[in-house]
Amino acid sequence: MERICPTSFVIFGASGDLTRRKLVPALFNQYVKGRLMEPIHIVGFSRRPFSDNEFRQLLLEGMQELTGVVPTMSDWNDFSQRIWYVRGDLSETKDYEQLRAFLNEKEGGFCNRLYYLAAAPAFFPLIIDHLGDLGMAKEEGGWRRVIVEKPFGHDLTSATELNASIHSFFEEHQVYRIDHYLGKDTAQNILYFRFLNTIFEPVWNRNFIDHVQITVAEDLDVGHRAGYYDRAGIVRDMFQNHLLQLLTLVAMEPPATFDADAVRNEKVKVLRAIGPIALEDTVRAQYEGYSETEGVAPGSQTPTYAAVKLNIDNWRWKGVPFYLRSGKALASKTSEIVIEFEPPPHVLLELPTDYKLTPNYLSLCIQPDEGIHLRFETKVPGSPQETRSVDMEFHYRTTFHGEALPDAYERLLLDALYGDASLFTRSDEIELAWSLVDPLMAGWEDSPDVSPLVQYTPGSWGPPEANAFMARDDRVWRMGCGEHNDS
Ligand code: BG6
Repeated sequence: MERICPTSFVIFGASGDLTRRKLVPALFNQYVKGRLMEPIHIVGFSRRPFSDNEFRQLLLEGMQELTGVVPTMSDWNDFSQRIWYVRGDLSETKDYEQLRAFLNEKEGGFCNRLYYLAAAPAFFPLIIDHLGDLGMAKEEGGWRRVIVEKPFGHDLTSATELNASIHSFFEEHQVYRIDHYLGKDTAQNILYFRFLNTIFEPVWNRNFIDHVQITVAEDLDVGHRAGYYDRAGIVRDMFQNHLLQLLTLVAMEPPATFDADAVRNEKVKVLRAIGPIALEDTVRAQYEGYSETEGVAPGSQTPTYAAVKLNIDNWRWKGVPFYLRSGKALASKTSEIVIEFEPPPHVLLELPTDYKLTPNYLSLCIQPDEGIHLRFETKVPGSPQETRSVDMEFHYRTTFHGEALPDAYERLLLDALYGDASLFTRSDEIELAWSLVDPLMAGWEDSPDVSPLVQYTPGSWGPPEANAFMARDDRVWRMGCGEHNDS
């Protein structure tokens, strides 16, 4: 009789926040939906002493507190029977040996394993080395995969080193570098929107598009993450990964299929075509009060906000600027992509000379009010020739009957379990992204006067300099997804 091969989902750094906030809720939700492959063992590995039951309880409480999900006891009891805990120190070989023995026994022979690196990034190489040295990366009788959390490196050099360390034991097809923005349904929908409809793609180029804006704004400040954040800053934390990933989805050529490498090859071509970022084309800022936060170095120059203009030097995009901005402690949490179209070539109305027609623009609303809006001009009824901008709107919440969109981790964990890497970042993508942002951060440091660090008021839309930056190009930041006051 054929043996049913279980899958082990092993979490390194399992007592941390991520396991309770994201990983276990995502696995639990997929379990309840009947999508989780069975049999499965979810094994937490970390230093704190827990029994299996204590660990399960910690996860249950964490899930309720941090995500608001209150599972029925029967669902939780069924699911939690699949959870185990192995106590271990990430730097102790004997603890990995114990883990290996535990997994072998549970699995009853070689089976499939997914390792999740949820520990602090400084431990990633150590974990990889131990897995490799103990033969735990070898695909003998089952697959072995590793999911690597962000941040993936601190700069190009460290990212390249991390890739090399991973590749000394894992082949690229075994590696899943997570960027949770790619797990958001609305981010995935960018490719569906572009390539499963025929009406947008013909105008998706320099002949019809004036420019593109990508905004990822957060209302929260750095809070208790100041220790990490002060060393990272907005560019490492948001641009190198999430914003550049969104940009590649907007700008890439259609791949022949949705196959992981076909998609990622096209994304890589976009990253390669981005020209160097001129310091003059950037704004960097810090919110007032940041430097008094516990964990922030005195006199810290870490930006918590940035706006950047990029150019993609290829046939489709030559001459179409991409404006990217992101920041903490802004007026609201909202992520949106705006495609602003060219003005009409000739206006047939006799409008006053200072009359400005609002250009057409399309807003891809990533979150929180997920949807798509198309802004266009219309005649105000009864007026001789007055125009007004109106919206054609699609909202997920109404079209899909108020169902909450699944958390990004639900999709990503399932994809990794089923071996689909299309929503994960390949090594070359990561390195190209770093090679774009490294010179920018170095430039800010070496020539601080070209784009000096300015301040902004928490709860605003960033520094006035960011509006002046757009005005310089005779453009404005747009917010097409909701009632935002962009000033
Ligand atoms: C993380 C950053 O990657 O993304 C955080 O480290 C940020 O600083 C978060 O808050 C934003 O994600 P989301 O899904 O809430 O927009």
